[in-house]
Amino acid sequence: MTLKTNAYAKVNLTLDVLGKRPDGYHELKMAAQSVSLCDELTIELTKSPAFTGLSNKAYIPGDERNHAVKAARLFRDKTRAWDGGAAITINKRIPACAGLGGGSSDAAAVLNALNAAFDEPLTYGELVELALQIGSDVPFCLRGGTQLMEGRGELLTPLSPLPLCSLLLVKPETQLPTPRVFGWLKPGDLRCHPDLDGFLSALENGDLPGIARRLYNVLETVAARHERGITEAHNDLIAAGALGASMTGTGSVVFGLFADEADAKRAASEVGRKSYLCRGV
Ligand code: C5P
Repeated sequence: MTLKTNAYAKVNLTLDVLGKRPDGYHELKMAAQSVSLCDELTIELTKSPAFTGLSNKAYIPGDERNHAVKAARLFRDKTRAWDGGAAITINKRIPACAGLGGGSSDAAAVLNALNAAFDEPLTYGELVELALQIGSDVPFCLRGGTQLMEGRGELLTPLSPLPLCSLLLVKPETQLPTPRVFGWLKPGDLRCHPDLDGFLSALENGDLPGIARRLYNVLETVAARHERGITEAHNDLIAAGALGASMTGTGSVVFGLFADEADAKRAASEVGRKSYLCRGV
């Protein structure tokens, strides 16, 4: 059996760190949005018991360090839905170590595709359990859309959808691994917080300028201390007419919101760096 599926990137519209947890993770509160930039996955179920990954990007590992491969193995172990393994091919478009949840999204897409193909042997709760063994963002990616993420990232509340707009994602050169950015965080970095209440009411009212004004990620100044390109990308987006801009996740991608696609396209040529034009999905 061969399955095909897309895995969508996510951006954090707001991101707050509430503290460090006894388990070593950080307690987070963030509004997240899935976007149309996606990886394309082909999952071939094999008679051979091996689980392997192959990608158009050399830096993507072929073993279980690849979250899509791990997801397929966890699903097979839990359900025994088929005897054998899986060979997963990924056409990778989402940049890695960028704060876009690419690996997490690949894993979630594999879990969803396998669960659908075998007539839903796992409940949503069971899928979330597997998802959390892979990474904190994987539960969000199972459903996508616009959601509030709390706890490690696994406590999810659906939010009003982002009003129609274009997002321009700008990628500074550096890749920022998530644990490194959390490691840079000092208590003094957490003096400013997103105006989440204001953000949520703007979202509910479909007020795009109000949403854009309240984009805020507490990790942006932390990452920007180490990677100059983040502030440059942010300033370039605002100078190019974005209604608002923010880093996503632990970076290094910075995105801007635009009411019109034509304005976002013009901004893409003005910022003069690697960028991706997309919309909320
Ligand atoms: O859960 P995931 O494997 O994606 O997390 C990668 C790293 O990010 C963790 O090892 C931890 O350093 C950091 N992290 C955190 N708090 C979270 C999520 C991730 O400190 N809520």
